Amino acid sequence: MNNFFKNKVVAVTGGSDGIGKALVEKLIIQGAFVSTCGRNHEKLLSLKNYIQNERLSILIADVSIKEDCENFIQHTISTFGKVDILINNAGISMRSMLVDCDIDVIKKLMDINFLGAVYCTKFALGSIIQNKGSIVGISSIAGYRGLPGRSGYSASKFALNGWLESIRTELSPIDVNVMWVCPGFTKSNIRNAALNQNAVAQGESPLNENSLMSAEDCAARILIAIQKKKRNLILTFQGKETIWLNKFFPRITDFLIRKFFFKKGILIK
Ligand SMILES: NC(=O)c1ccc[n+]([C@@H]2O[C@H](COP(=O)([O-])OP(=O)(O)OC[C@H]3O[C@@H](n4cnc5c(N)ncnc54)[C@H](OP(=O)(O)O)[C@@H]3O)[C@@H](O)[C@H]2O)c1
Repeated sequence: MNNFFKNKVVAVTGGSDGIGKALVEKLIIQGAFVSTCGRNHEKLLSLKNYIQNERLSILIADVSIKEDCENFIQHTISTFGKVDILINNAGISMRSMLVDCDIDVIKKLMDINFLGAVYCTKFALGSIIQNKGSIVGISSIAGYRGLPGRSGYSASKFALNGWLESIRTELSPIDVNVMWVCPGFTKSNIRNAALNQNAVAQGESPLNENSLMSAEDCAARILIAIQKKKRNLILTFQGKETIWLNKFFPRITDFLIRKFFFKKGILIK
């Protein structure tokens, strides 16, 4: 087994489900000390019971609240002494056309997906610099190509990519690696939890979740990329294809995206 993560302290936001949970599990197996947070106490407790390892610390924190992020990072440092790697993973999605959408949905997406990463990074930065560590943002293909029905989600991920690119340029001379990851469609709870036009979880997935990349596969690739200090990681063939097509043939991509997401003018995915 590779020793890269052994005894490193890794803070993963949103580790109680999906990709975050798979990251936590793999990091513990690889000998890291892991601190994670989420909003739901039961989900965190069930993670703790499932992992059953003293190297895992859990805390209730909502990353859209600045004080919660400060608490989470302070708790990580007081429990394990430092932060080597921060993985800004916590995120939610949405499903609503702009004409129908309550503006609060878009604000909520920005608060969690973008500002949550800003807060946690800012509070962990001193320790990460001291340890010449890494800052990771789990973004999305939607952070390279705006997607219909997810305007707030795309905006939050574009913001995340731009912000990470800026701080990457600031921090690379002092040996802090900054990386963003763009998973393609990955099996998780994200579509069930996606906010509808009234900011309520839609409670279903319009995709066949079993046909998607598994969260475990996604997490394994993320950990390899962190270890290799990659600049970014784009996942799935469909994801790479979308970004490439959009770069060189944006109008054709508009057409193909409409074809994928709409049926008879109605948003179906
Ligand atoms: N799955 C995909 O297809 C896909 C594709 C591209 C990108 N991504 C990105 O991957 C990341 C992980 O998503 P996932 O698919 O694993 O979703 P998921 O299964 O819904 O898991 C999301 C995790 O984040 C936590 N979370 C959500 N809002 C939070 C908040 N305000 N504060 C703290 N924790 C919060 C959730 O716990 P609580 O609900 O208890 O807070 C949960 O642990 C997200 O950033 C997402 O945008 C996913």
